[in-house]
Amino acid sequence: MDEKKVMLSGIQPSGDLTLGSYLGAIKNWGARAEEFDCYYFMADMHSITVRQDPAALRRRTLEQLAQYIACGLDPERNTLFIQSHVHQHAELGWVLNCYTMFGELSRMTQFKDKSAKNKDNINGGLFTYPALMAADILLYQPDYVPVGEDQKQHCELTRDVAQRFNHIYGDVFKIPEPYIPKVGARIMSLSDPASKMSKSDKDPNGSVYLMEKPEDIQRKFKRAVTDSDTERCVRYDPANKPGVANLMTIYAAVTGRTMEEIEREFDGQGYGVFKPAVGEAVVETLRPIREEAQRILKDKAYLESVYRAGAEKASRVAERTLRKVYKKVGFVAR
Ligand code: TRP
Repeated sequence: MDEKKVMLSGIQPSGDLTLGSYLGAIKNWGARAEEFDCYYFMADMHSITVRQDPAALRRRTLEQLAQYIACGLDPERNTLFIQSHVHQHAELGWVLNCYTMFGELSRMTQFKDKSAKNKDNINGGLFTYPALMAADILLYQPDYVPVGEDQKQHCELTRDVAQRFNHIYGDVFKIPEPYIPKVGARIMSLSDPASKMSKSDKDPNGSVYLMEKPEDIQRKFKRAVTDSDTERCVRYDPANKPGVANLMTIYAAVTGRTMEEIEREFDGQGYGVFKPAVGEAVVETLRPIREEAQRILKDKAYLESVYRAGAEKASRVAERTLRKVYKKVGFVAR
């Protein structure tokens, strides 16, 4: 029998999901389960490298899990779990710390960025985080790790650490490949079409969130920056009309229409008609996701059954790798 290839990714429960990450990525994740054996976890242990409000972290972890399920990650077909529920992450993380070099960690650009931003809390965890991330990955012997541009360097380090370990002890870890997903739509900020729509955007009007109320979404679209050109018509011209092009990209992604079809649809009409139409289409796309996520969040027993089953499955797989590692490094078997 042909075994499916394994794919794994971690998500930091650090903010609300945006329309940008939905249309650009998450929307396509459900279909991956056809081809891959997929693991996704809420990386709560990574989140505490930056100080968190405990109640908020707990809430966001569950909210994020509910949102991913509502976006189409079926818990029956994917392994969904919370990182801190699978103790093997911390254990392998410690071991790999001892095979990750100070110099390597010092070169990580995310560490440099984050320590520049959190000068009063440059803690050990922030520095050694890539060793924990290597453990997250290597425990499951995945073939692929889908990550964004910003995590490529950590994936490279994971490969280096795995190779170093294998070189000493024989083949313990599969060497994973980064997986650069086929790009979905690239959605820009509604208030600044030159920068990407992001959950960490300081301007709340730039981003639309999956859980947002319809009237708030509609208001943001009505206020969206269009362009100061004089023709004021709906035409796809990203170089000269980036604001309009962004709204057209969003409209195309949610309606499945082409740019030509959209130009024809709004022919002779100004932005005053176009912007609310995009808002309305987005509201209708997000409505079932929001309602489903809210329903799941209220159903505590269901949510609990999902993350329990996920952790149980993950822990079984992770334990196999951890045992091998403990034996190789010379720990006495329990
Ligand atoms: N470091 C990732 C981020 O900040 C999250 C993450 C933690 C991760 N462990 C992982 C991603 C393992 C992929 C694989 O986004």
